[in-house]
Amino acid sequence: MKKINRLALAAMAALFSFTVAASAAPFGNKDDISFAKSLWTALEKAEFVGPNRINVRPFEGNEPHGAIQQVLGKTITVDGKTGKVLVKANHGGKGASVATVYDNPNKFLGAYTVMFKREAGYDTKNKDWFWAKYNKAGALMTNPKKMQLAGRVAKGAQKGCIFCHTAAGGEDLETLTEK
Ligand code: HEC
Repeated sequence: MKKINRLALAAMAALFSFTVAASAAPFGNKDDISFAKSLWTALEKAEFVGPNRINVRPFEGNEPHGAIQQVLGKTITVDGKTGKVLVKANHGGKGASVATVYDNPNKFLGAYTVMFKREAGYDTKNKDWFWAKYNKAGALMTNPKKMQLAGRVAKGAQKGCIFCHTAAGGEDLETLTEK
């Protein structure tokens, strides 16, 4: 009898910790992915992403955002939430330079990294930013653990969007270059 109880308890504990881990993931969960889809659609409408997006002057930047970058920013509405969005097009590879990227904005494009300012309380500690990384075609990219990069990426970790922007990004985590 005693043994069974202990087993049941262990099973319950395992289940409990699994549930906690699953719901506590700060990014890559169902809500994050669905919000990231709406965000992409809004960005397409704003002509901030996609092959015919607004072309702005590129500049030389640092890893992990690619050797050549372009940044666009404005206020948009996503799923009824209005906030500021910053889109960084990350370019790289052989032949990528300010001139070649400007002439051919899709040829060296590796990814779009996006920050969208969510409602107050979304992530108070990190200025309520929603983070996402998309490939050229608008699919969410993943980390080595196959978690999709959308949401509070990667809150609590010693690397990733929030960690690096906290170290380098100044008061609003924005890391504004070339402005
Ligand atoms: C290792 C550090 C680091 C990581 C990780 C990082 N960033 Fe950045 N980010 C920067 C730096 C530095 C800049 C400024 C541009 C530059 O010099 O490359 C920047 C700029 C940006 C900008 C443009 C903001 C502006 O106003 O200029 C966006 C958007 C952005 N990052 C999004 C992201 C997202 C989304 C992730 C995660 C998927 C991420 N970043 C991960 C360091 C990082």
